[in-house]
Amino acid sequence: MIKIRNLTKSFKKLKVLDGLDLDVIPGETLVILGRSGGGKSVLLKHMIGIMKPDEGTIDINDARISELEGPDLYKAVLNMGMLFQGAALFDSMTVEDNIAFFLHEHSSLTEDEIRDRVSHALEIVGLAGTEKKMPSELSGGMRKRAALARLIVYRPSLILYDEPTTGLDPMTSMQINELIVKTQKELKATSIVVTHDILSALYIGDRLALIDKGKIAHIDQPDTFMKIDNPIIEFLRKTISQDPAKVRELR
Ligand SMILES: Nc1ncnc2c1ncn2[C@@H]1O[C@H](COP(=O)(O)OP(=O)(O)OP(=O)(O)O)[C@@H](O)[C@H]1O
Ligand SMILES: [Mg+2]
Repeated sequence: MIKIRNLTKSFKKLKVLDGLDLDVIPGETLVILGRSGGGKSVLLKHMIGIMKPDEGTIDINDARISELEGPDLYKAVLNMGMLFQGAALFDSMTVEDNIAFFLHEHSSLTEDEIRDRVSHALEIVGLAGTEKKMPSELSGGMRKRAALARLIVYRPSLILYDEPTTGLDPMTSMQINELIVKTQKELKATSIVVTHDILSALYIGDRLALIDKGKIAHIDQPDTFMKIDNPIIEFLRKTISQDPAKVRELR
């Protein structure tokens, strides 16, 4: 479904991605881990085509995203959704208008159908009845969930999450993790999740990948991944008290 080859990107003298290769399996939830500043957000932005590589290619469902621009790019990424780091909502619009925004723009649904879809999406994320609220009236966790509702409302087949649980308390983080799993099941989407949160990674991930020195240094199933001899993975192991193999059983 997604095939990335030799992806290379520098900002001035800083080489952020350095010949990165990655294959994403249809329907999987792939978690990407790595140091802050390691290029994780840059990688996601290349996948939705808002950044262009210096070298290399990105193919998603037969479209060469890395070479498309304008309406062609737009068409190719219509079935993709991204939850940006920071979960930006439009501050001047109600929750309902925020969520309906893309449906008004890009679907032929009637007003009633849109309203139904919006309230269903809000129910899924546990925000039923908040349609008329303004984003400023919501807590950080609620804003993340509203942003997630906006994303799932148009049923993307590929979802990119950039640090969906960062800055949230453990309980709210777990709710977001559960939502990611639930969304995955409901939409049968392929998901790519960038996170610093190793518990979250183990809970939701079918595979875990480590980005280091501009490349995917390791990629494997969670149990195997956590046993890899690598200083960053070693560090991740130390930060959790649970047995990595048991975290997913909490689902
Ligand atoms: N538009 C840009 N212009 C210049 N430099 C950039 C740009 N975007 C990212 N960078 C640089 O590229 C590097 C990787 O950034 P990126 O945002 O991908 O890191 P990250 O792995 O997502 O980190 P974090 O975990 O902190 O979010 C950083 O050094 C950053 O400063
Ligand atoms: Mg980032």
